[in-house]
Amino acid sequence: MANAPHGGELKDLLVRDAHLHDSLVEEARALNDIFLTERQLCDLELIMNGGFSPLEGFMNEQDYTSVRDTLRLAKVNGQRQGTLFSMPITLDVSQQDIDTLGLAPGVKVALRDPRDEAALAIITISDIYKPNKSLEAEQVLGADDIAHPAAAYLHNKVKEFYVGGNVQAIQAPKHYDYVSLRYTPSELRAHFHKVAWRKVVAFQTRNPMHRAHRELTVRAARQRRANVLIHPVVGLTKPGDVDHYTRVRAYQALMPSYPEGMAHLALLPLAMRMAGPREAVWHAIIRKNFGATHFIVGRDHAGPGKNSQGQDFYGPYDAQELVTQFKDELQIEMVPFQAMTYLPGSDEYQPVDEVPKGTPTADISGTELRKRLRTGASIPDWFSYTGVVKVLRESYPPRPQQGFTVLLTGLHNSGKDTIARALQVTLQQHGTRSVSLFLGEDIRHQLSPDLSASKEDKHQNLLRIGFVAAELTKAGAAVIAAPTAPYEASRKAIKEQIAGQGGNYFLVHVATPLEWCEKVDRRGLYKRARNGEIKGFTGIDDVYEEPTDADLTVDLRTDTVPEIVHSIIMTLETENLL
Ligand code: ADX
Repeated sequence: MANAPHGGELKDLLVRDAHLHDSLVEEARALNDIFLTERQLCDLELIMNGGFSPLEGFMNEQDYTSVRDTLRLAKVNGQRQGTLFSMPITLDVSQQDIDTLGLAPGVKVALRDPRDEAALAIITISDIYKPNKSLEAEQVLGADDIAHPAAAYLHNKVKEFYVGGNVQAIQAPKHYDYVSLRYTPSELRAHFHKVAWRKVVAFQTRNPMHRAHRELTVRAARQRRANVLIHPVVGLTKPGDVDHYTRVRAYQALMPSYPEGMAHLALLPLAMRMAGPREAVWHAIIRKNFGATHFIVGRDHAGPGKNSQGQDFYGPYDAQELVTQFKDELQIEMVPFQAMTYLPGSDEYQPVDEVPKGTPTADISGTELRKRLRTGASIPDWFSYTGVVKVLRESYPPRPQQGFTVLLTGLHNSGKDTIARALQVTLQQHGTRSVSLFLGEDIRHQLSPDLSASKEDKHQNLLRIGFVAAELTKAGAAVIAAPTAPYEASRKAIKEQIAGQGGNYFLVHVATPLEWCEKVDRRGLYKRARNGEIKGFTGIDDVYEEPTDADLTVDLRTDTVPEIVHSIIMTLETENLL
């Protein structure tokens, strides 16, 4: 028998009837709209499909305060105590939203998916209240410390007011990725019923899984004579985590290593809060709603990392302790684990508390793994599986396969175009990457024919170059761009566009001085600029702000083009990109 849902009844609010669906869409059309944030979207999906049972909407002030302070919903109908629920689930809005949308108790509002504007639900507002964010962080996260990702989110992203109220579901948010691996609680329960799984150990994860995790889950299943549900989070996880596309491919690569018929993979669109112990209780409730009977809590479950004093926010087994405290009410059995570690002597994994003293052990930390991926160094079979490593290597190619942008900045005629062309040829000769060259004039014609020589338009032109260069760099290309790029702010913006998403970026300042540029100006552009025939010409009637952060500064008076190209190649080589 699958586990009973939390609170006794699965609150699957999704509408199956086509007529009802259509009439709700119609009703929503007449209402004001709230476009949901990514987190609100995840929360709403799990409210509607019953993952957050017994919730039927976003928390009102009473439930919010009670959950915040006591981990329980407010008492109802003579209950001795409110139902256990460890995480506030709230719908935040701004004062402006309240004013412009006319939000007030009793008012109905359509909750819409920002991506396709579909109406997902109608909320009937019960109350609007102003949370004390610091108190919320203290109580729920254990500290009002901006180093905690959920505290940072609360203070920086969450708006000033919360809107409580039950929702009438219209439809779940549309997903286009891994559709067949997404199950609602009802669907997963039906699946377990179909395959006659009576005991199911759920495994929560937000990281790629390796052999340690496979061994841990198999061990949990065998101890309990149960099956395994691999239930990774694909909503929002900790900033900086491996993206979920890569992770899901890695889980898919791992699944065949389970004994036939033991494990099933299903994806959970949860927005994690990284709240350690409280999060573990919440995760257990969610898995119970999805029909699991057991739930694994290992070391540092949903850990947010270090606080601003450099200490861990929670102890490694605090999550296990809190789950144990609510054992009787949770009605999903926790399977606790200490850290799994590898024993080279016997080629097996064991929890550290079961390893005899003095036995040699081996581990590869997350940092070490990332380093090996970056350098292309080997990752041993005892640590992971060939298929999993292949997926990770594809998403995290070693540096010689990563894209990069070289931005050459300098005055007209400084030689940057000649250097750029020569660099293009040299990189073509090298092979391995597709090479894209963007010369200032080509860009003006192809990308920005609508822009003038005003400061704003020059900046706009550079932002376009940055955008295209960032996309190509992400795709693994070598990009050479040679606009004049006279403003520091524009160059900074380009750098941010590229480096901000992890792309490699180099700035080469072609510092050939104005007099020289002017002297060799066969097209006479400088002369025309000096005559006032051309306006906004860099160096004449518009400023060139010298870069202070160039990776390389070169000058055509003292260096030849081949020498300069060679220096750029050496820079790329030193960075291990060639
Ligand atoms: S979490 O944020 O979802 O908890 P992660 O995906 O790393 O992060 O962990 C998933 C679950 O596996 C957690 O219960 C965690 O405690 C457990 N876990 C991960 N790695 C180990 C390990 N080496 N030993 C024991 N438990 C582990």
